[in-house]
Amino acid sequence: MSLCSSFNASTLHSAQPQIYKTRFSSQFIRQFQVNSISYALASSSQNISKPLEIWRQRFKPITASATNSVETTKASSFRSKNPKDINILVAGSTGYIGKFVVKELVDRGFNVIAIARERSGIRGRNSKEDTLNELQGANVFFSDVTDLGTLEKSLQELDLSFDVVLSCLASRTGGVKDSWKIDYEATKNSLIAGKKLGASHFVLLSAICVQKPLLEFQRAKLKFEAELMKAAELDNGFTYSIVRPTAFFKSLGGQVELVKEGKPYVMFGDGKLCACKPISEQDLASFIADCVLSEDKINQLLPIGGPGKALTPLEQGEILFKLLGKEPKFLKVPIGIMDFAIGILDFLVKIFPAMEDAAEFGKIGRYYAAESMLVLDPETGEYSAEKTPSYGKDTLEEFFERVLREGMAGQELGEQTIF
Ligand SMILES: NC(=O)c1ccc[n+]([C@@H]2O[C@H](COP(=O)([O-])OP(=O)(O)OC[C@H]3O[C@@H](n4cnc5c(N)ncnc54)[C@H](OP(=O)(O)O)[C@@H]3O)[C@@H](O)[C@H]2O)c1
Repeated sequence: MSLCSSFNASTLHSAQPQIYKTRFSSQFIRQFQVNSISYALASSSQNISKPLEIWRQRFKPITASATNSVETTKASSFRSKNPKDINILVAGSTGYIGKFVVKELVDRGFNVIAIARERSGIRGRNSKEDTLNELQGANVFFSDVTDLGTLEKSLQELDLSFDVVLSCLASRTGGVKDSWKIDYEATKNSLIAGKKLGASHFVLLSAICVQKPLLEFQRAKLKFEAELMKAAELDNGFTYSIVRPTAFFKSLGGQVELVKEGKPYVMFGDGKLCACKPISEQDLASFIADCVLSEDKINQLLPIGGPGKALTPLEQGEILFKLLGKEPKFLKVPIGIMDFAIGILDFLVKIFPAMEDAAEFGKIGRYYAAESMLVLDPETGEYSAEKTPSYGKDTLEEFFERVLREGMAGQELGEQTIF
C-alpha cells in the first residue's frame, strides 16, 4: 500500500464532527483536520499515526471496543439510539446525490463517516480539501472502495463500529467494465466491509430503470440488489432499503441553455415515447435519509419520483418554452435513427472489441429516449404513473427557472455526458 493511502486509512478528517462537537471545541477539530492535510502531503505514515492517537485519546470516539463488541451493537437495534450515536458509513459521498445525502444526514444529527477518493468529482477535479469543504459536518476518510482489502484495512484503522452503510456509488461513465467494477463490486465491498464492522442495515441508491434491464449497469445493479436481499434473508438481524428513483433533474436540464439561445427542443418520436416524475437532489436525499430509521422502509424495494404528474419530453419542452415566453419550437427525431446507429456500433464492436463502451453509450441513449422512468406494472406490462410514488416538493418547472437564471452549475452530467 502506498504511503499516502496508509495515512488516509488511519485518519478521519472532519470539518464539523457531529458526535464530538458537544465534548470539544470545533476550533481544535478544525486545526486537527488542517494539520492532517499537511501531514498527508508531507509526512511518513509513522508520523501520521501520532495525531490520530492524540485525537482518539481526546475525543474517545464511539468505537467497536467502546461498545463492548460489534455483536452487542447489532443485537440492540440502532433505531432506538439517538441519531448522534448512530454511525453511518456513506460510500459514493461525493456524487451528485451522495453530497446531498451526506448533508441531509448531518442535518438530521447522525454521525456520518464518508468515504471519498483523493481526487473526487467529475474527472477527479476536486482535491482533498475541496472534498472536505463539500462534505462539511461529516467525518471524511480517503480510501479505495474498489479494493476490498484496502477498504477493510482503512475501516479497521478507524476503530469504529457502524450501524448503517449507505451507498450512492455509481459508475461515472456507464461503461461496461466500470459498471461492474462500481455498481456491483465496489458496492458489494462496502456491504462486506461495513457488515463486518457491525452494520445491520444497508441503504442502496439504485435506479427505477433496473426493472427492465437491457444495459450493463442495470444488470450490475440488479446483481448487487439480489445479493443484498440474500444477505438479509440469511441474517435475521440484517436489513436493507433499496431506493429506485426516477429521473434526476440534471438528466433533464441539458437543453435549457440551448433553448434559451434560440435552438429547438429536441425529442425522439412524437415526444411522448417516455415519461418520468423528475426528483430533485434534495428531495431524493431526504427520502434516502428517511430509509435509515423508517421501519416501513425495511426490506423494501422503493421506487420513488418527485411531486406532480409524470412528464413526457414534449411536456418538459412546453414548460420550458412557457417559462421563456417563446413559441414552442421542437425538433422531432425518428427513433429509428438511433437504432441504425446502434446497429452500426454493434457490428463494429465485433471487429473492434475496444469499442464496447461506445456501443453501450449508444444503447444507453436509446434506452432513455424510449423507456419511461416509472413503475412497470407487472399486471399490464405497461409503465404506470399512478403506481409511481411521489415525494418531495421541488418541481421541474422551478428547476428550469433556476437554470435559466443561474445556468447548469452543479448539474453537470457524468464523464460521458450520459447520466
Ligand atoms: N441520472 C438519473 O437521472 C438517475 C435516475 C435514477 C437513478 N440514478 C442512479 O443514481 C445513482 C447515483 O447517481 P449520481 O448521479 O449521484 O452519481 P455520480 O454523481 O456519478 O456519483 C458517483 C459516485 O460514485 C463514486 N465513484 C465512481 N467511480 C468510482 C471509483 N472508481 N472509485 C471510487 N468511487 C467511485 C464517485 O466518486 P468520485 O467523486 O470520486 O468520482 C461518486 O461519489 C446511480 O446509480 C444512477 O444509476 C440516476
